[in-house]
Parts: sequence; structure tokens; C-alpha cells
Amino acid sequence: MRVLVTGGAGYIGSHTVLQLLGAGHSVVIADDFSNAKPSVIGRLEELAGVSIPVHRVDLSDYPATAELIAAEQQGEGIDAVIHFAGFKAVGESVDKPLDYYRNNLDTTLSVLEAMRAGGVRTFVFSSSATVYGENPVCERTEDMPTSATNPYGWTKVMIEQILRDLAVADDSWRIGVLRYFNPVGAHPSGRIGEDPSGFPNNLMPFVTQVAVGRRQELSVFGDDYDTVDGTGVRDYIHVEDLAAGHIAALERLGQIDAPWSVWNLGTGSGVSVLQMVAAFAAASGREIPYRIAPRRPGDLAANWADPAKAHRELGWRATRTLDDMCADSWRWQSQNPDGYPD
Ligand code: WQD
Repeated sequence: MRVLVTGGAGYIGSHTVLQLLGAGHSVVIADDFSNAKPSVIGRLEELAGVSIPVHRVDLSDYPATAELIAAEQQGEGIDAVIHFAGFKAVGESVDKPLDYYRNNLDTTLSVLEAMRAGGVRTFVFSSSATVYGENPVCERTEDMPTSATNPYGWTKVMIEQILRDLAVADDSWRIGVLRYFNPVGAHPSGRIGEDPSGFPNNLMPFVTQVAVGRRQELSVFGDDYDTVDGTGVRDYIHVEDLAAGHIAALERLGQIDAPWSVWNLGTGSGVSVLQMVAAFAAASGREIPYRIAPRRPGDLAANWADPAKAHRELGWRATRTLDDMCADSWRWQSQNPDGYPD
């Protein structure tokens, strides 16, 4: 298949691009590079051994997006879209709700309308476990109700609803919603990885920046949760497993009649903050100084995936271990202490 990957220069997008090419698919990237550096593309081409067509575009600009897809359809054609593009920082979304609703909803609506106009109906959406909200049941299954505790999460809930309504209105669509748990790790080459701009919001990039000397110490946000050691528990999934889940979903959508499907992409295991810190120290040989800090507003105590549906319907499961996640994260960060070059 020839796949348009929006946000393809981003963390999960870039790893998925590499696996799509490795699986024999063709790829076109559309990215505005607002949260990714252009040097990612050169790294991808180096690893894939091919040149990758890239459109630098603001996907919230409908005319530009429609023109992009129409032009591609006049050329080699687009068979499917994997939509990663969007803002994704929980805390920032609380401070800038309008930016998040405007960007995440506009880009998605613009891409969907351009697909409809261009005759493309296969769409894989980058959703998130955050749509499970504050459900007291820690193990998340796809049939649980969705809600959110922050504007970022609400954009994911709203987009999932938009996609459901679209599928009801026109069953020629083949829509796959992928609910990610906590993506970590990097391609084993160490040439691509997670490179957050500014202050890292998420645990693993903060840990790797402490390990490489860019940060002094990790703040552990609370050790008084009702968990194995009092710190927050999450389902960390290697980004390479996550990317593989996209390929499995894409290929499955070509075989089923359902216009709308949803799958968890997680390992099914929960790991605490302190367990992650210990695993990283063991994998990297670097001690991670930390202090216990107050809980972060909005944080949940614990959640993890029930990954059975994706295994049953996609034949997919996560295979990389916690040690793989830590070793690959460290290789990326130690080889690229300041992230991607400008
Ligand atoms: C994990 C654990 C923190 C940083 C969010 C989004 C989700 C997805 C991933 C986008 C928690 C603790 C963290 C730190 C810490 N985002 N922590 N010190 O909040 O589970 O999920 O990011 O796709 O949609 O909701 O991930 O990595 O921020 O936190 O103690 O400096 O690490 O309290 O227990 P989270 P996280």
C-alpha cells in the first residue's frame, strides 16, 4: 500500500514510517515540523535506504491539505492515511485549550475531508489510553466508556466520536482507532528516537536526559499512591512494538467489513516509576538521582492495557521487554545527547 503518514517526522510517526517501508509499503510524509526537526528525514532515509517524499504542510489548512491529497491521487495514489499529527502534551493542553482544540480537531477534520474528496477511505488514528479517563478499573478494555481529564484527552475522545459518526454515515470507510498506552524506547540503531522540544513532560525522556547529564535529577511525582511501591504505574510499550501495531491494523483494515474498529496497543503489564528508574539504571549503567515530589495534578495511580483484542483480531502483541525499552532509549540518548541536529 502507499500510505500518507501525517506527523511522520515525529517520535511514533518516524518509527512507523521505517516499519512501513520495511514491510514493503510506500510512504509519503506530511508534517509541519512544529514539533519535529527536518533532520529526522535524513536519518529515516539512511536507515531505510530510500528517499522519502515529504510535504511540509499545515494540515489545518484545508485547501492545502485537499490539494496535497488530490495531487498524490493524480500521481502514484494514496491507499491509506495514518494520522499522527497533533499536539500531545497534557499539561500544555490545560494552559492552552484553544490551541489544542483548534489544532487537533482542525487537522483531523481537514485530513478526513480531503480524503473524502480524494476518494481515500482507509484511516488509522493515533488515539491514547488517556480516553479511559478516571475509570476505577485499572486494566483497560476497549468497551469501557471514554472521557477525559484534560483538553488533550478530550481532543482524542472527540475525534474518536467524529470517526464513529463518520463510519455510521458512510460504511465505505475503514477506520482503525489505536489507543496507545505509554510509548518509550527507540529504534535499536540509536539513529532515531524521542526528542521532546523543551522540558520533557513524560517520564522516559526525563530519565534519559538525567542520565546523559542534561537534567540534574528526576522528580518522582508522588509515592503515596495505592500501588506496589507508592509510585504511579503505567503500561510502557516499546515504540517498535507500537509501530508494528500500526502495520498490523492497516493490513487488517483491508480485510474486514467493519467501518470502525478500536484496539488497545499496550503490553498488558504495569510498571511503577521506581521500577522504571531501576530498570533504566540496570540497562544503562547510569544512576538516576531522584527526589520524591508532590503528586502531579490529573495523574492517575495506575492503568494498563488488556491487549487481548489486538492479539485476537490483529495477530499482534508487544514482544520487547522493559530492558529492551531502557537499553534502546539509552542508546538513542547517549548517541544523541542533544537530540536531532538542527
Ligand atoms: C508516567 C508516570 C507520572 C514524569 C501521558 C498522556 C498519554 C501519553 C503519554 C501522549 C506517571 C510519572 C512523569 C516525571 C514522574 N501522551 N512521572 N516524573 O501521564 O501516563 O501519559 O503521556 O501520547 O496520552 O496522558 O505519562 O510519562 O507523563 O507519566 O514521576 O518527570 O511517570 O506521575 O506516574 P502519562 P508520563
